Amino acid sequence: MKENVIPHSYQISKKDRQENNKHSSFLMWFTGLSGSGKSTIANVVEQELYKLGIKTYTLDGDNIRKGINSDLTFAPEDRTENIRRIAEISNLMVDAGIVVLAAFVSPYIKDRENIKSIVKEDNFIEIYINTSLEECERRDVKGLYKKARAGEIKNMTGISAPYEAPTNPEIEIETEKESIEESAKKIVDYITLKLNQVK
Ligand code: ADX
Repeated sequence: MKENVIPHSYQISKKDRQENNKHSSFLMWFTGLSGSGKSTIANVVEQELYKLGIKTYTLDGDNIRKGINSDLTFAPEDRTENIRRIAEISNLMVDAGIVVLAAFVSPYIKDRENIKSIVKEDNFIEIYINTSLEECERRDVKGLYKKARAGEIKNMTGISAPYEAPTNPEIEIETEKESIEESAKKIVDYITLKLNQVK
């Protein structure tokens, strides 16, 4: 079937949309353990970008796993599919001229590498929210670690499933050493130049 799908050529390009928005578009990918602070930091970054008039959208487990990916579990192959679909959605949003913030555990290096091949490396910024398992477990905001230790949740990242930390992230945030505001500022400063590179 695929060979019979022939894309239509539309006259308004990604560059046109970016020029209209007066900023470029790309994907900021937050990875880290559950409870590491990904969504919290992404939320503050998005507020700062909003104040600057940047068009943004945040994707996270709540709006994705309850909707389009509600058929997926936390088994490795489902996590791979979870990340692949999110990367495809992000790719459309980047094409639409939006700065996308995506906050997902995304524990496998190969899945994060695959995002790069979908959205293109140049449009992808990997942000590692580095919080130790001990600290995530101490915070246990959602009570999931307690349940995992009690054997009530299987495949829990950090407990009964692996987390493969990025080896060369563009930005690394150590939440046990930096405040949320400092972390958000570091990220906004990093992307300022990129926001002006319409292409
Ligand atoms: S991912 O591994 O496929 O990227 P995703 O970010 O979508 O995971 O979802 C992770 C969120 O789901 C966690 O923040 C946590 O609230 C919840 N969750 C429920 N079960 C698990 C589990 N077994 N492992 C990790 N997170 C889980």
